Amino acid sequence: MNRFEGKVAVVTGGAMGIGAATVTRLASEGAVVYLADVDGTAAAEVAATAKGTVHFVHCDVSELAQWKALTERVMDEYGHVDTLVSNAYALRWGAAHELPEEHWHRVLDVTLKATYLGMAALAEQLTAACGSVVAVSSVHAHASMPGFTAYAAAKGGLSALVRQLAVEYAPAVRVNAVAPGPIRTRQWDSVAPAGIAEEAGRTLAGRLGRPEEVASAIAFLASDEASYITGAELPVDGGRLVRLS
Ligand SMILES: NC(=O)c1ccc[n+]([C@@H]2O[C@H](COP(=O)([O-])OP(=O)(O)OC[C@H]3O[C@@H](n4cnc5c(N)ncnc54)[C@H](O)[C@@H]3O)[C@@H](O)[C@H]2O)c1
Repeated sequence: MNRFEGKVAVVTGGAMGIGAATVTRLASEGAVVYLADVDGTAAAEVAATAKGTVHFVHCDVSELAQWKALTERVMDEYGHVDTLVSNAYALRWGAAHELPEEHWHRVLDVTLKATYLGMAALAEQLTAACGSVVAVSSVHAHASMPGFTAYAAAKGGLSALVRQLAVEYAPAVRVNAVAPGPIRTRQWDSVAPAGIAEEAGRTLAGRLGRPEEVASAIAFLASDEASYITGAELPVDGGRLVRLS
Protein backbone atom coordinates (compact mmCIF):
# COMPACT_ATOMS: atom_id res chain seq x y z
CA MET A 1 0.00 0.00 0.00
CA ASN A 2 1.12 3.53 -0.75
CA ARG A 3 -1.58 5.50 1.02
CA PHE A 4 0.75 8.35 2.01
CA GLU A 5 2.58 9.01 -1.25
CA GLY A 6 3.17 12.76 -1.54
CA LYS A 7 2.07 13.38 2.08
CA VAL A 8 4.03 14.91 4.92
CA ALA A 9 3.40 13.56 8.42
CA VAL A 10 4.52 14.67 11.87
CA VAL A 11 4.70 11.91 14.49
CA THR A 12 5.44 12.86 18.10
CA GLY A 13 7.21 10.44 20.41
CA GLY A 14 8.38 8.63 17.29
CA ALA A 15 11.73 7.44 18.63
CA MET A 16 10.34 4.39 20.43
CA GLY A 17 7.44 2.01 20.83
CA ILE A 18 4.15 2.81 19.13
CA GLY A 19 5.51 6.09 17.76
CA ALA A 20 8.50 4.37 16.15
CA ALA A 21 6.24 1.72 14.60
CA THR A 22 4.02 4.51 13.26
CA VAL A 23 6.96 6.41 11.75
CA THR A 24 8.14 3.21 10.09
CA ARG A 25 4.66 2.38 8.79
CA LEU A 26 3.88 5.83 7.38
CA ALA A 27 7.32 6.12 5.76
CA SER A 28 6.98 2.65 4.23
CA GLU A 29 3.71 3.81 2.66
CA GLY A 30 5.31 6.82 1.04
CA ALA A 31 5.03 9.62 3.59
CA VAL A 32 7.83 12.02 4.39
CA VAL A 33 7.85 11.73 8.17
CA TYR A 34 9.04 14.28 10.71
CA LEU A 35 9.86 12.35 13.85
CA ALA A 36 9.41 14.79 16.73
CA ASP A 37 11.00 13.58 19.93
CA VAL A 38 13.41 14.50 22.72
CA ASP A 39 15.58 11.40 22.25
CA GLY A 40 17.86 12.00 19.27
CA THR A 41 19.83 8.77 19.70
CA ALA A 42 16.80 6.48 19.54
CA ALA A 43 15.29 8.62 16.77
CA ALA A 44 18.42 8.21 14.65
CA GLU A 45 18.05 4.42 14.82
CA VAL A 46 14.43 4.61 13.68
CA ALA A 47 15.34 6.97 10.85
CA ALA A 48 18.21 4.72 9.76
CA THR A 49 16.12 1.54 9.61
CA ALA A 50 12.87 2.97 8.19
CA LYS A 51 12.22 2.43 4.49
CA GLY A 52 11.47 5.95 3.32
CA THR A 53 12.22 9.53 4.27
CA VAL A 54 12.37 10.27 8.01
CA HIS A 55 13.64 13.56 9.44
CA PHE A 56 14.34 13.89 13.16
CA VAL A 57 13.33 17.13 14.78
CA HIS A 58 14.14 17.74 18.40
CA CYS A 59 10.86 18.86 19.94
CA ASP A 60 9.59 18.79 23.49
CA VAL A 61 5.90 18.66 22.67
CA SER A 62 4.95 20.53 25.83
CA GLU A 63 6.59 23.72 24.49
CA LEU A 64 4.72 25.92 22.00
CA ALA A 65 7.95 27.56 20.79
CA GLN A 66 9.29 24.14 19.77
CA TRP A 67 6.07 23.34 17.87
CA LYS A 68 6.40 26.67 16.06
CA ALA A 69 10.02 25.90 15.11
CA LEU A 70 8.98 22.46 13.85
CA THR A 71 6.18 23.95 11.75
CA GLU A 72 8.51 26.54 10.26
CA ARG A 73 11.07 23.89 9.35
CA VAL A 74 8.55 21.54 7.69
CA MET A 75 6.98 24.40 5.75
CA ASP A 76 10.42 25.62 4.61
CA GLU A 77 11.40 22.13 3.47
CA TYR A 78 8.14 20.74 2.01
CA GLY A 79 5.50 23.49 2.10
CA HIS A 80 2.67 21.36 3.49
CA VAL A 81 1.66 19.15 6.40
CA ASP A 82 -1.00 16.50 5.87
CA THR A 83 -0.97 14.35 9.00
CA LEU A 84 -0.29 14.81 12.68
CA VAL A 85 0.05 11.81 14.99
CA SER A 86 0.08 13.02 18.59
CA ASN A 87 1.58 10.12 20.50
CA ALA A 88 4.18 11.36 23.02
CA TYR A 89 3.27 11.06 26.68
CA ALA A 90 4.62 11.26 30.20
CA LEU A 91 3.76 8.97 33.08
CA ARG A 92 4.28 9.61 36.80
CA TRP A 93 2.75 7.35 39.38
CA GLY A 94 0.85 8.09 42.54
CA ALA A 95 -2.52 8.46 44.20
CA ALA A 96 -3.59 12.08 44.60
CA HIS A 97 -2.07 12.40 48.07
CA GLU A 98 1.26 10.98 46.86
CA LEU A 99 1.66 12.74 43.52
CA PRO A 100 3.79 15.90 43.63
CA GLU A 101 2.11 18.80 41.89
CA GLU A 102 4.97 19.17 39.41
CA HIS A 103 4.45 15.57 38.32
CA TRP A 104 0.76 16.26 37.73
CA HIS A 105 1.72 19.23 35.56
CA ARG A 106 4.36 17.30 33.59
CA VAL A 107 1.98 14.46 32.76
CA LEU A 108 -0.81 16.84 31.74
CA ASP A 109 1.59 19.00 29.71
CA VAL A 110 3.13 16.18 27.66
CA THR A 111 0.12 13.88 27.42
CA LEU A 112 -2.75 16.35 26.97
CA LYS A 113 -1.60 19.94 26.40
CA ALA A 114 0.76 18.82 23.62
CA THR A 115 -2.13 17.85 21.37
CA TYR A 116 -3.67 21.30 21.81
CA LEU A 117 -0.27 22.89 21.08
CA GLY A 118 0.27 20.70 18.03
CA MET A 119 -3.11 21.68 16.67
CA ALA A 120 -2.49 25.34 17.47
CA ALA A 121 0.80 25.22 15.56
CA LEU A 122 -0.41 23.18 12.59
CA ALA A 123 -4.13 24.03 12.20
CA GLU A 124 -3.55 26.34 9.25
CA GLN A 125 -1.40 23.78 7.41
CA LEU A 126 -3.68 20.81 8.18
CA THR A 127 -6.72 22.81 7.05
CA ALA A 128 -5.03 23.84 3.81
CA ALA A 129 -4.08 20.21 3.15
CA CYS A 130 -7.51 18.79 4.18
CA GLY A 131 -5.42 16.62 6.46
CA SER A 132 -5.98 14.38 9.43
CA VAL A 133 -4.96 14.06 13.06
CA VAL A 134 -4.69 10.90 15.11
CA ALA A 135 -4.11 11.15 18.86
CA VAL A 136 -2.98 8.18 20.91
CA SER A 137 -5.23 7.93 23.95
CA SER A 138 -5.50 4.86 26.18
CA VAL A 139 -7.88 2.45 27.85
CA HIS A 140 -7.10 4.58 30.92
CA ALA A 141 -9.40 7.23 29.45
CA HIS A 142 -12.30 4.89 30.17
CA ALA A 143 -11.44 2.66 33.12
CA SER A 144 -9.12 3.02 36.08
CA MET A 145 -6.61 1.28 38.31
CA PRO A 146 -4.64 2.63 41.30
CA GLY A 147 -1.68 4.95 40.73
CA PHE A 148 -2.65 6.48 37.38
CA THR A 149 -4.13 9.74 38.73
CA ALA A 150 -2.50 12.20 36.34
CA TYR A 151 -2.24 9.83 33.37
CA ALA A 152 -5.94 8.85 33.53
CA ALA A 153 -6.95 12.50 33.78
CA ALA A 154 -4.75 13.39 30.82
CA LYS A 155 -6.02 10.54 28.64
CA GLY A 156 -9.65 11.21 29.57
CA GLY A 157 -9.08 14.83 28.61
CA LEU A 158 -7.38 13.79 25.39
CA SER A 159 -10.35 11.68 24.30
CA ALA A 160 -12.65 14.68 24.87
CA LEU A 161 -10.19 17.03 23.15
CA VAL A 162 -10.19 14.83 20.06
CA ARG A 163 -13.97 15.15 19.77
CA GLN A 164 -13.70 18.90 20.30
CA LEU A 165 -11.00 19.30 17.62
CA ALA A 166 -13.05 17.16 15.21
CA VAL A 167 -16.00 19.53 15.64
CA GLU A 168 -13.87 22.65 15.50
CA TYR A 169 -11.88 21.85 12.34
CA ALA A 170 -14.53 20.02 10.29
CA PRO A 171 -14.96 19.50 7.46
CA ALA A 172 -11.36 20.19 6.40
CA VAL A 173 -9.53 18.17 9.04
CA ARG A 174 -10.53 14.77 10.38
CA VAL A 175 -9.50 14.16 13.99
CA ASN A 176 -9.60 10.71 15.58
CA ALA A 177 -8.01 8.71 18.39
CA VAL A 178 -6.82 5.21 19.04
CA ALA A 179 -7.09 3.80 22.55
CA PRO A 180 -4.43 1.14 23.04
CA GLY A 181 -4.59 -1.48 25.76
CA PRO A 182 -1.42 -3.19 26.98
CA ILE A 183 1.18 -2.90 24.21
CA ARG A 184 4.63 -4.47 24.59
CA THR A 185 6.83 -1.37 24.69
CA ARG A 186 9.54 -0.35 27.18
CA GLN A 187 7.00 0.54 29.86
CA TRP A 188 6.42 -3.20 30.29
CA ASP A 189 10.15 -4.03 30.61
CA SER A 190 10.10 -3.64 34.39
CA VAL A 191 7.03 -5.84 34.82
CA ALA A 192 7.76 -9.42 35.94
CA PRO A 193 6.69 -12.28 33.64
CA ALA A 194 3.88 -13.17 36.05
CA GLY A 195 2.55 -9.59 35.80
CA ILE A 196 2.70 -9.70 31.99
CA ALA A 197 0.88 -13.04 31.96
CA GLU A 198 -1.78 -11.66 34.32
CA GLU A 199 -2.35 -8.61 32.12
CA ALA A 200 -2.39 -10.76 28.98
CA GLY A 201 -5.06 -12.89 30.63
CA ARG A 202 -7.26 -9.84 31.10
CA THR A 203 -7.47 -9.35 27.31
CA LEU A 204 -9.63 -11.39 24.96
CA ALA A 205 -6.60 -11.82 22.71
CA GLY A 206 -4.72 -13.53 25.54
CA ARG A 207 -1.55 -11.53 24.92
CA LEU A 208 -0.07 -8.05 24.93
CA GLY A 209 -0.32 -6.13 21.68
CA ARG A 210 2.56 -5.19 19.41
CA PRO A 211 3.40 -1.57 18.54
CA GLU A 212 2.89 -2.42 14.85
CA GLU A 213 -0.73 -3.39 15.59
CA VAL A 214 -1.42 0.10 16.92
CA ALA A 215 0.52 1.67 14.06
CA SER A 216 -1.68 -0.04 11.49
CA ALA A 217 -4.83 1.36 13.17
CA ILE A 218 -3.24 4.82 13.26
CA ALA A 219 -2.29 4.57 9.57
CA PHE A 220 -5.83 3.55 8.68
CA LEU A 221 -7.41 6.48 10.56
CA ALA A 222 -4.86 8.91 9.10
CA SER A 223 -5.42 7.69 5.55
CA ASP A 224 -8.12 8.47 2.99
CA GLU A 225 -9.55 5.01 3.64
CA ALA A 226 -11.07 6.55 6.77
CA SER A 227 -12.45 9.52 4.83
CA TYR A 228 -15.88 9.37 6.55
CA ILE A 229 -14.52 8.82 10.06
CA THR A 230 -13.97 11.77 12.37
CA GLY A 231 -14.38 12.38 16.09
CA ALA A 232 -14.04 8.64 16.66
CA GLU A 233 -11.93 6.57 19.01
CA LEU A 234 -10.81 3.12 17.96
CA PRO A 235 -9.87 0.68 20.74
CA VAL A 236 -6.72 -1.30 19.96
CA ASP A 237 -6.74 -3.28 23.16
CA GLY A 238 -7.20 -6.95 22.34
CA GLY A 239 -10.62 -6.69 23.96
CA ARG A 240 -9.19 -5.53 27.30
CA LEU A 241 -12.09 -3.18 28.08
CA VAL A 242 -15.03 -5.37 27.10
CA ARG A 243 -14.07 -8.20 29.44
CA LEU A 244 -16.09 -8.44 32.66
CA SER A 245 -14.52 -11.60 34.00
N1 LIG B 1 2.47 0.73 25.78
C1 LIG B 1 1.27 0.64 26.29
O1 LIG B 1 0.91 -0.36 26.95
C2 LIG B 1 0.27 1.76 26.08
C3 LIG B 1 -1.06 1.55 26.47
C4 LIG B 1 -2.00 2.55 26.27
C5 LIG B 1 -1.62 3.75 25.68
N2 LIG B 1 -0.32 3.92 25.32
C6 LIG B 1 0.02 5.21 24.71
O2 LIG B 1 0.77 5.01 23.54
C7 LIG B 1 1.65 6.11 23.34
C8 LIG B 1 3.06 5.60 23.13
O3 LIG B 1 3.43 4.77 24.22
P1 LIG B 1 4.70 3.80 24.14
O4 LIG B 1 4.47 2.74 25.14
O5 LIG B 1 4.97 3.47 22.72
O6 LIG B 1 5.83 4.80 24.70
P2 LIG B 1 7.44 4.71 24.69
O7 LIG B 1 7.85 5.05 26.07
O8 LIG B 1 7.93 3.46 24.07
O9 LIG B 1 7.82 5.92 23.72
C9 LIG B 1 7.44 7.23 24.05
C10 LIG B 1 8.23 8.21 23.20
O10 LIG B 1 7.82 9.54 23.57
C11 LIG B 1 8.98 10.36 23.66
N3 LIG B 1 8.72 11.52 24.52
C12 LIG B 1 8.58 11.53 25.87
N4 LIG B 1 8.40 12.80 26.30
C13 LIG B 1 8.42 13.60 25.20
C14 LIG B 1 8.28 15.00 24.99
N5 LIG B 1 8.09 15.85 26.02
N6 LIG B 1 8.35 15.47 23.73
C15 LIG B 1 8.54 14.63 22.68
N7 LIG B 1 8.68 13.30 22.82
C16 LIG B 1 8.62 12.79 24.06
C17 LIG B 1 10.05 9.42 24.22
O11 LIG B 1 11.36 9.91 24.01
C18 LIG B 1 9.75 8.14 23.44
O12 LIG B 1 10.43 8.11 22.21
C19 LIG B 1 1.49 7.01 24.57
O13 LIG B 1 0.59 8.04 24.28
C20 LIG B 1 0.91 6.06 25.61
O14 LIG B 1 0.15 6.73 26.58
C21 LIG B 1 0.63 2.96 25.49
